[in-house]
Amino acid sequence: MPRRIYVDNSATTPVSDGALAAMLPFFQEHFGNPSAIYSYGLEANKALEESRRAVAKALGALSSEIFFVSGGTESDNWAIHSVAERYGDKGKHVVSTAIEHKAVLNTLGKLKERGFEVTLLPPDRDGLVSPERLARALRDDTILVSVMMANNVVGTIMDVKALAKEAHKRKAVFHVDAVQAAGYLPIDVRDLDVDLLSISGHKFHGPKGAGALFAKIPRLPTAYLTGGGQERGGRSGTENLPGIVGMAKALKEAVANLERVEELKSLRDRLIEGILTIQGSFLTGDEVRRLPGLASFVFTGLRSSVYLINSLNEKGICASSGSACSASSQEASHVLKSMGYTDDLAMASLRISLSHYNTAEEVRAIVEAMPDAVREARSRRL
Ligand SMILES: Cc1ncc(COP(=O)(O)O)c(C=O)c1O
Repeated sequence: MPRRIYVDNSATTPVSDGALAAMLPFFQEHFGNPSAIYSYGLEANKALEESRRAVAKALGALSSEIFFVSGGTESDNWAIHSVAERYGDKGKHVVSTAIEHKAVLNTLGKLKERGFEVTLLPPDRDGLVSPERLARALRDDTILVSVMMANNVVGTIMDVKALAKEAHKRKAVFHVDAVQAAGYLPIDVRDLDVDLLSISGHKFHGPKGAGALFAKIPRLPTAYLTGGGQERGGRSGTENLPGIVGMAKALKEAVANLERVEELKSLRDRLIEGILTIQGSFLTGDEVRRLPGLASFVFTGLRSSVYLINSLNEKGICASSGSACSASSQEASHVLKSMGYTDDLAMASLRISLSHYNTAEEVRAIVEAMPDAVREARSRRL
């Protein structure tokens, strides 16, 4: 089989050698339950707390503010439900954006069923929501603002610091979904002044099934998994220690790699330049405020992204549209639609997301393959 090129790193990433090596001893040698008080347990607990310190350091947080979870979805769920639980008697209004991941949007849907009112702010054509727009939506009964740091479809980066400032002026709790940002953008929770922040290990070369929630406010998050009282009573259940150790190592590596972010940007920009030479192709999302490795496009005359993804796959290139799709069907992206794209264009998107594992040679191969792939995909009808 010819060598494949993987450029869907926003969906998931391969585990780094360092993270894998860090994890392996915790499957057999140090398999103990971190709650046990004999040597196996004590060793496991030590690794758990070292991982907590490492994650806290990477985010500019305190160890006591880091809670381990299974990934981004759980982290978003826990953050949002905690605020509703804790402050629901003070107000029932929540503000978020129309371009959040389903992990946030569907969780807010659950709050609606419980009588909360949810305002979803539309982004501008570039996928950004301004602090002024947020300020206009805030009310005395707004208890929570949840905004993503970087979008998973178009890669635009929100001005989280300015948005958090507006939320705090009105005493609302600020949650940030940093699942796409962690490991690719510097994050300092104190500087950003956010209350809750969600990350997921498998997006930055850690394992799947491990994530974290940063929670600043005392007594937040509320207990949502009851049982043996792990994670300071917040999330019971024996900890996924290999996963947590791997995530902490991967995050440490990713933060060290931030120094190399210009290399990633330069690959991304070569990709954008090459692909935009195709007639009827457009870059989506802000040109400048975008993730260093993410390039996203729409193509006129293309009935569905699925055709393009399949065409690229036949050429050994693994990319995606960034929105929910299966091998044969696709939904128009809610992100692109809320940015003002027509249904037709929102069905015809492509997301190429790079990591430090991608090379200039791979980018060249993608740029070379794209015109044919687009031509083939355009010629296909449903
Ligand atoms: C912005 C964003 N939030 C949340 C999630 C969910 O993360 P996980 O897959 O770790 O549950 C994703 C995953 O793609 C994401 O991109």
